[in-house]
Amino acid sequence: MDKKIQACLLVVLFQISFSGAQTNSNDVAALNSIRLLWKNTPSNWEGSDPCGGGWVGITCNNSRVVSITLSSMGLKGQLSGDIQSLSELQALDLSYNKGLNGSLPVSIGSLTKLSNLILVGCSFSGPIPDTIGSLKQLAFLSLNSNSFTGEIPPSIGNLSKLYWLDLADNKLTGTIPVSNGSTPGLDMLIHTKHFHFGKNQLSGTIPPQLFSSEMILIHVLFDNNQLTGSIPPTLGLVKTLEVVRLDRNLLSGHVPSSLNNLTSVSELHLSNNTLTGPVPDLTGMDVLNYVDLSNNSFDATDIPQWFSTLESLTTLAMEYTQLKGQLPQAMFSAPQLQTVSLRNNRINGTLDIGLNFSNELELIDLQKNFISAFVERGGYSNQLLLQGNPVCEESGATAKYCTLPQKTTPPYSTNTISNCTPVLCPPDQKASPNCKCAYPYMGILYFRAPSFSDLGNSSYYVTLEKSLIASFQTYQLPVDSVSLSDPTKDSDNYLELDLEVFPSGSERFNQSVISKIGFMLSNQTFKPSKLFGPYFFIGSEYGAFAETSIQSESSKSVSLGVIIGAACGGFVLVLVLTLAGLYAFHQKRRAEKVIAQNKSFSSWDPSKSSSSIPQLKGARWFSYNELKKSTNNFSEANTIGSGGYGKVYKGTLPNGQLVAVKRAQQGSMQGGIEFKTEIELLSRVHHKNLVSLVGFCFDQDEQMLVYEYVPNGTLKETLSGKSGIRLDWTRRLRVALCSARGLAYLHDHADPPIIHRDIKSNNILLDERLNAKVADFGLSKSMGEEKDHLTTQVKGTMGYLDPEYYMSQQLTEKSDVYSFGVLLLELITAKKPIERGRYIVREMRITIDKTKDLYGLHELLDPAIGLGTSLKGFEKYVDLAMWCVEESGTDRPTMSEVVKEIESIMQIAGLNPNAESASTSATYGGTSGGHSRHPYGHESFDYSGGYPHAKVEPQ
Ligand SMILES: *[C@@H]1O[C@H](CO)[C@@H](O)[C@H](O)[C@H]1NC(C)=O
Ligand SMILES: *[C@@H]1O[C@H](CO)[C@@H](O)[C@H](O)[C@H]1NC(C)=O
Ligand SMILES: *[C@@H]1O[C@H](CO)[C@@H](O)[C@H](O)[C@H]1NC(C)=O
Ligand SMILES: *[C@@H]1O[C@H](CO)[C@@H](O)[C@H](O)[C@H]1NC(C)=O
Repeated sequence: MDKKIQACLLVVLFQISFSGAQTNSNDVAALNSIRLLWKNTPSNWEGSDPCGGGWVGITCNNSRVVSITLSSMGLKGQLSGDIQSLSELQALDLSYNKGLNGSLPVSIGSLTKLSNLILVGCSFSGPIPDTIGSLKQLAFLSLNSNSFTGEIPPSIGNLSKLYWLDLADNKLTGTIPVSNGSTPGLDMLIHTKHFHFGKNQLSGTIPPQLFSSEMILIHVLFDNNQLTGSIPPTLGLVKTLEVVRLDRNLLSGHVPSSLNNLTSVSELHLSNNTLTGPVPDLTGMDVLNYVDLSNNSFDATDIPQWFSTLESLTTLAMEYTQLKGQLPQAMFSAPQLQTVSLRNNRINGTLDIGLNFSNELELIDLQKNFISAFVERGGYSNQLLLQGNPVCEESGATAKYCTLPQKTTPPYSTNTISNCTPVLCPPDQKASPNCKCAYPYMGILYFRAPSFSDLGNSSYYVTLEKSLIASFQTYQLPVDSVSLSDPTKDSDNYLELDLEVFPSGSERFNQSVISKIGFMLSNQTFKPSKLFGPYFFIGSEYGAFAETSIQSESSKSVSLGVIIGAACGGFVLVLVLTLAGLYAFHQKRRAEKVIAQNKSFSSWDPSKSSSSIPQLKGARWFSYNELKKSTNNFSEANTIGSGGYGKVYKGTLPNGQLVAVKRAQQGSMQGGIEFKTEIELLSRVHHKNLVSLVGFCFDQDEQMLVYEYVPNGTLKETLSGKSGIRLDWTRRLRVALCSARGLAYLHDHADPPIIHRDIKSNNILLDERLNAKVADFGLSKSMGEEKDHLTTQVKGTMGYLDPEYYMSQQLTEKSDVYSFGVLLLELITAKKPIERGRYIVREMRITIDKTKDLYGLHELLDPAIGLGTSLKGFEKYVDLAMWCVEESGTDRPTMSEVVKEIESIMQIAGLNPNAESASTSATYGGTSGGHSRHPYGHESFDYSGGYPHAKVEPQ
């Protein structure tokens, strides 16, 4: 028997070592060396047979590794110089791994078979090695969106097969190299179609020698550099050109007339330079769609003829260019015209768009010109901006064109136009356009020179979606659907579009599919229609990999076991199967660990929090980029609050929903535990007097909470009088009631009960109808097993803090009641709890004189409460407040008793406590009047003096 087992184990060992022989040993060594320097390599990179073992991202041919494609894997670390040993390597794609850094090894020049080198959107730095010029087979070189420094290596000129050269968005300096006797240069690249060098720090002149009639370039993108001198006339020799971007440089001199010979150019960007001389004649550029010559120093020039003759124009931008004279009617009739942007010129006379203008015309921006009259024919109803023209100085029919803005188009989103029944997804998943919940692969598509400017036209995106789907089908990738959303023009004048790719047949993609999708986009295998022009994609790390790659390996071990078992007999079969089972179990555990380590989706950073995945209900996960976009890049203008935690920004989600994004400061993150607590608590409680959580972000080292937006700010601001909202007695009662109800819900109806621990006027928000909502559960504590009290580190805000809790460190719901009592006092005095050394509770105790009217508290009250009017129920209110701040918790009421008390005070005051505040909006000055002015901030609205606010009725 023993011998039998031994024999079998030998068979096993033999099988394993035999299968190891499928990969060339040099390649195994090289891959192992590469793997050693990386973190997060694919989960099946195990063992010593990359080719036979089907390692994710590795393709072999005759036991040699021929391609490595690992985009969006979350790889971290440096690229090993030992890659040089993979001498048969043809394609290397490591795109969208932000964690890959360090310099590109010089030895990469040894990979003489390499045809595709793609490192888009990583963090490589240092110079691009000169040895890159030795890669004689290189056809596709994309190094864009890294941090490469130094000069463009002249040796690139030796890459005679190169058709794609993308070095954009790096930190490259120096001049554009051209050949010079012995040294090569980019002018030698006569088979190259793409020069993408934008967003670097290239300087010097554009050498005239760079361009020749032999070239077949279609895209010359040099935008956003520091290039000087004039545009070389030789550019006009490259007849194949379709897109030219030289904008955002320091180019000077006259625009060469030879440009007019470029009859295939559809997009021409020369804006933001210091070009001089007359506005160029573009009459010959028949297919020009998009032309931007803004912000240059041209001579004052009459409106050029080509404005009216170029039939393909979609976009004409010439801001700040000293154009003069009257605009011809004919220029608005190019059939595809969408945007005319001619602000800050010297256009004068009468504006007459005529009736024959383009159907697609969306925007005519003529601000700050000298237009003295406008012929209103009524046909055009889109945006026309005439502010800053003499015509706006007279009031009359033109007035509506003299203010900003007239119209905003809602942002596009695939999901809003899909026609299936919407589904509610688990918080970490998203609904696909086919209404299935899944984990999409996400990223941003950047179009560097789209031919259109009307971003609100959904037909473009629908076309793009269809072509994406078709492409995924061609490459047999398991994609259910794609979603595009939120088209925006960024400061580089690139069009950004959010892309989400949804898996089919499963909720998750596996690593192998992600690397293929990434490659399809990084290798430009996907080609959108010409409408969109040149693009690149930056993928996000995918945080929800399925385990398929591991399962395939474990099922392999099972089949190995079956073979051996059949050879060795029953008993051993059981043994081997058990071992195989254990192995599979181990692998599954490992896979679970890998997935758990991935922090963007399903997981929680275990180093920062005590337990694993947050238990969420109804809150969704947001990516960092989504929130960045929705808050206008966390702009100052969007800031609506700040505190020790960080800042709060107002944001707009693609569906138009307003949100408040609370962003933890870098470095001073809330502890993972508190963050998680807040998410969990907020997502679990739903009450109209509690601020609800829309979602959260735990991505790219950021912690953000996304709340419903509560438009009227905090009670504290309102009490301070800064917000212009007047709170009279009845409104204060309503605020008290709403907050009490919110808090009572936390104590009595949340399961487990929640103690807020930081009730204060800063944490009470007011909505558009002045309904109060309790916010900020950051310090909340849910009651665990011990029902009566919790012993905790004392937290809260001075002035509101329950002294009993402070001394005993025993937290109960009654501590919230104390803070609420302080809030009730603050509500009538509008004073901070501790002001100039005086504590409001003590002040009250010593001032109250129950024999006097209003308990003799006139001096302490906020005059805005309406002291002249009768404050019905006031004394009862003060009694309640003082009851709440009793020394001993047991003497204080519960929150539900507080609610009942306030309700009865409201009845004394003649108010219906159960009326929705909404129905009182008419008495507040009316949002129903059809105009959208702020109902509370309005100056002329006078709320004092016998306004019939007692007539509040339930809805
Ligand atoms: C541009 O075309 C004109 C004829 O239209 C020709 O005379 C001129 O030489 C061309 N310029 C260049 C630089 O090719
Ligand atoms: C282009 O020039 C205008 C006017 O000088 C300036 O406001 C704008 O910021 C510039 N844009 C860029 C991207 O430099
Ligand atoms: C427009 O300005 C030009 C000078 O740039 C002047 O000759 C012309 O008379 C002006 N037209 C009108 C209608 O004011
Ligand atoms: C990369 O893209 C090119 C087209 O841009 C295509 O011809 C080539 O086959 C792609 N490479 C692979 C390995 O798919």
